[in-house]
Amino acid sequence: MAGSIRSIHGCAAAVGMGGRNLLSINDLANEQIYALFELARILEPWNRSRLALLADKVLCTLFFQPSTRTRMSFETAMHRLGGAVVSEATPLLSSSAAKEESLADMLTVVSKYANVIVLRHPDDHEALEAVTHATVPVISGGFGNWEHPTQALMDLYTLWRVHGRIEGLRVCIASPDLVAARTGHSMAYGLARLGAQVVLASPALNRTPAEVRERLAATGGSVDEMLDLDQDAFNELAAAVDLVYLPGCSAPRGEEAERFKQLMDDYYLRFETLERASPEGGRIVHVTHTLPRRAGEMDMRFDDSPYQLYFEAIGHSVSLRMALLAAVLAD
Ligand code: CP
Repeated sequence: MAGSIRSIHGCAAAVGMGGRNLLSINDLANEQIYALFELARILEPWNRSRLALLADKVLCTLFFQPSTRTRMSFETAMHRLGGAVVSEATPLLSSSAAKEESLADMLTVVSKYANVIVLRHPDDHEALEAVTHATVPVISGGFGNWEHPTQALMDLYTLWRVHGRIEGLRVCIASPDLVAARTGHSMAYGLARLGAQVVLASPALNRTPAEVRERLAATGGSVDEMLDLDQDAFNELAAAVDLVYLPGCSAPRGEEAERFKQLMDDYYLRFETLERASPEGGRIVHVTHTLPRRAGEMDMRFDDSPYQLYFEAIGHSVSLRMALLAAVLAD
């Protein structure tokens, strides 16, 4: 066992992330992404047991927005690696943030307790400034509408496990609101950089922000946009790709609700579309949703079908986050 731990420490150090933050997926070079995937695969045997790799380390999770998956899977990952976890899931109620302590001060203080911090925050500008005050690595658990890099990493990892590659795959990232789709932004960067062909499908009104489109163009990857599709046109697009990526959306209330319902309907993926596009014994068109999902976003029959990758991704998320924690905590 001591030999495996030494060799895993070596793989973690080889990722080249020791002591560094992960705030954007663009903080990782392509080869570092693949090194994390290899490390996640090595760690997979322990994702339901325990390996004393990080026995003297403490993770602090600070979540200023609700979460089930991201917080729990990071915490599970740390427990599986033998480390300890301090969790603040409601900081605006139960921490000194409720007494108007700044995020910068909070990160300065928590850095004295923990060896690594996972932070989710609704304001990307505030979060990005505040992390400069941390003295231990900070991993983003989702900042504002900006990025959610570890969601994209686990979805890319799942795709890589299914196809054995990312390069050359065709992926449609679709939502009635790609402005707020932080998982979609991170996923688009990762896919474009690793050589997939990306199509961004949304209403023109809620298209991918200019800043994200500019950064995508700078990757030199294959990225197209299809705007204002109706449900038939969206389903035609979906049938022609390898993965339909649904970053989800939060629907407005009040006056906007009815209009948004129509937009959601335009980006509704029919079960029959993937069934027809995936002949028995032939290629499979997959769908993944970053979750949580709401009624009316997708056909629930996908859950028990060979098309879904969203629960597959959850299954891979702990190993991937174990790999990331080991990598940023490597000496
Ligand atoms: N996908 C995701 O970030 O889920 P949670 O909000 O539950 O963490």
